[in-house]
Amino acid sequence: MTHPYDDLQAQNVRGSHSIKWSLYPEDVIPLWVADMDYPISSAIVDALEARMTRSVGYPQMTGDPELVRAITKHMARWGFQLEKAHIWPMSGVVPGLFSAVKAFSQGGAPVLTQVPIYPPFLMAIREQNRTVLENPLLEDGYKIDFEALERSITPETRLMLFCNPHNPSGRVWKRDELERLAQFVIRHDLILVSDDLHAELDFTGDYLPIASLSAEISSRTITLIGPCKAYNTAGLGAGAAVSSNVELLERMKVAGHGFVSFPTVLSQAAWVAAYDGAQGWLEDTVAYLKGNRDFLSEFLARELPQIGYFAPEGTYLAWLDFRALLGNGAQAWLLEHAKVGLNDGAAYGEAYAGFVRLNFATSRTLLTEALERIARTVRARVRESVSAD
Ligand SMILES: Cc1ncc(COP(=O)(O)O)c(C=O)c1O
Repeated sequence: MTHPYDDLQAQNVRGSHSIKWSLYPEDVIPLWVADMDYPISSAIVDALEARMTRSVGYPQMTGDPELVRAITKHMARWGFQLEKAHIWPMSGVVPGLFSAVKAFSQGGAPVLTQVPIYPPFLMAIREQNRTVLENPLLEDGYKIDFEALERSITPETRLMLFCNPHNPSGRVWKRDELERLAQFVIRHDLILVSDDLHAELDFTGDYLPIASLSAEISSRTITLIGPCKAYNTAGLGAGAAVSSNVELLERMKVAGHGFVSFPTVLSQAAWVAAYDGAQGWLEDTVAYLKGNRDFLSEFLARELPQIGYFAPEGTYLAWLDFRALLGNGAQAWLLEHAKVGLNDGAAYGEAYAGFVRLNFATSRTLLTEALERIARTVRARVRESVSAD
């Protein structure tokens, strides 16, 4: 069955307005930064247009009542009972990561996180002169290595940054994993920041915010949320830190004061429209993404079984281990030879130079073309190295 996203043409999305489509020359298929190539929901377009007919002066900076209503309703599906004071709206999720690190750790102190991880986690720690306490995920299925977690924790560690669903592996953590992690956080008296930006991009139905497990874990967790991954509105800029613990939020606000700004009137309007009116668009888009995920899984199993691959359970990101085929430096090699632009695994943790992250939120046609280019060039390289032996 065909889908309107199948007709998407590179020439319609390419342009200087898009970092994804302007970083590389035109002969490169860009499957890197986490934007989808799909048009946004008409509910969001209509809301943006309508919003422009009213004042675009400063909004209520602690959150427009409509936005607070929409977030409160959205989070209630996991049992959150939020009031305005429990929500800190801001211009994105990354400012939440940075202000949490500043608020909840001292200079030089360790901050725990799992690698591989979305690079701003590491930047928020390193660029503020804290140290990264790495807990590598087990490569077999990208499970949490709880034994290593217990071994590596130090008495100075007060903060853990967590990602659910996980970028870049696409894991959607199961309830038992979240329960075990929550026990760990409580036992070691940590504050947990859970970046749940990809929450709605779940192929399993298992997604659960860790803060929803109990009052005890909720009181020491900040959940970072936003519309930009699921509804493809990253260029508008919007996010929020949500917690039942108002004191933690206040500490973050103090840390972010003067640096973290409010979501604009347009991004707030888009966010409300996303929750109120874009659920049909979201369902359809997630189904298309799941189809792309399945296509990718079948393609790799058939054409390039040497690539280490975990079928993502959510997000639109796939984490590919090219070490057996290309050694380190896979991203640069694939850019030069296959003309496919991917994210370099080295940015996700020092051990991951042989990995790449592939964004499959494009048309099936472009995805197919990119994968065929990769398979063709990698197979030619393998043939050359065999005949040279
Ligand atoms: C896990 C995660 N957190 C945060 C961000 C960026 O959020 P924002 O653009 O709202 O700062 C991304 C973007 O891909 C992401 O994947």
